[in-house]
Amino acid sequence: MFFTQRSTVGLDIGSGYLKVVQLKDTKGGYELELFDMVPLPPELIVDGSIIDSLRLSDALKELARKARIKTKDVVISIAGHSSVIIKRVSLPDMSEEELSESIKFEAEQYIPFDIDDVNLDFQILGPKEEPGQMDVILVAVKKDIINEYLSVVKEAGFNCQIVDVNSFALENIYEVNYEIEPGKNIALINIGASTINMNILKGGISVFTRDSAVGSNLHTEVLQREFNLTFDVAERLKRNEPVENISPQDSLSVMDLASEEIIGEVNRSLEYFHEEINEVILSGGCALIKDFPKILAEKIGVETKIMQPFKNIRIPKKFDMSYIEEMAPIAAIAAGLALRRPGDR
Ligand SMILES: Nc1ncnc2c1ncn2[C@@H]1O[C@H](COP(=O)(O)OP(=O)(O)OP(=O)(O)O)[C@@H](O)[C@H]1O
Ligand SMILES: [Mg+2]
Repeated sequence: MFFTQRSTVGLDIGSGYLKVVQLKDTKGGYELELFDMVPLPPELIVDGSIIDSLRLSDALKELARKARIKTKDVVISIAGHSSVIIKRVSLPDMSEEELSESIKFEAEQYIPFDIDDVNLDFQILGPKEEPGQMDVILVAVKKDIINEYLSVVKEAGFNCQIVDVNSFALENIYEVNYEIEPGKNIALINIGASTINMNILKGGISVFTRDSAVGSNLHTEVLQREFNLTFDVAERLKRNEPVENISPQDSLSVMDLASEEIIGEVNRSLEYFHEEINEVILSGGCALIKDFPKILAEKIGVETKIMQPFKNIRIPKKFDMSYIEEMAPIAAIAAGLALRRPGDR
């Protein structure tokens, strides 16, 4: 009561855009304090690994200036097909303290990496039907990947308070904005430039997560190939900006090919989850590609909505509402990270 909780900044270090969101806790709920983003050249982060840490920390500094970030404390996240393992496991009943002490031993059999090479975390979900057992979500992130991100963030002048995981951030921001739907399977799907993060909620509880290394860079690549364009020009075309000698229809039909390939990957992930999905909530830059949500809904046969990460968050008048509404799906992960507070769980 004597301390006001420090507000932290959610920093989503994506391979295509750096995004920042800051939320203020007010009596009436959350209020948006900051939202901004800067694009990254495509060669800085590849397959979740930082290739050029110097230029990445410069880009972070540029974002800090542009967005006028005043807080040093940040929350970042790691996406990971190759560097993060999230598993739901059954362990003997024990307290949180006991599990903290034995986590390394308990986790060893479930983690395909050397246990000394990963940072481990867990969340106890509750007792199982079998007596003496409980459900636990195990999270293991490779230390070398965490350290790469931490050193870049530090170099840019920030203190990293929490390292989160994309699919959890997605779940957290969903919970702030949507009612739990008992008995329904809702797939939260975030498709960025190079990754898909998926988290399936069953009656509001996460039962399946999966990341894969595919994203909207595929749209850029097919445009580059088809029309012989540089990355930057193809990115402009992707956003429906006029490019000389190329008709919008031509570019759209080429982009549909990439959309189908991305959706093929979404489908493969969904196949690992053996139950029916009732609704998809789509976020990430790919949600902004013209017709992508429609094609996704058609191909997978599931009603698809675009995530509204700021639905229940008050947006002060100083913000450009139309820009925020347009870019909101891209802000989902950063907004989920901005919900975290040091010391929470
Ligand atoms: N109107 C738009 N504005 C910005 N990006 C867009 C737009 N439409 C499509 N995109 C695409 O969305 C992608 C960026 O989305 P997002 O910020 O979610 O990805 P990311 O987090 O940087 O990538 P990842 O998480 O896969 O590493 C880029 O490929 C970009 O071309
Ligand atoms: Mg992303």
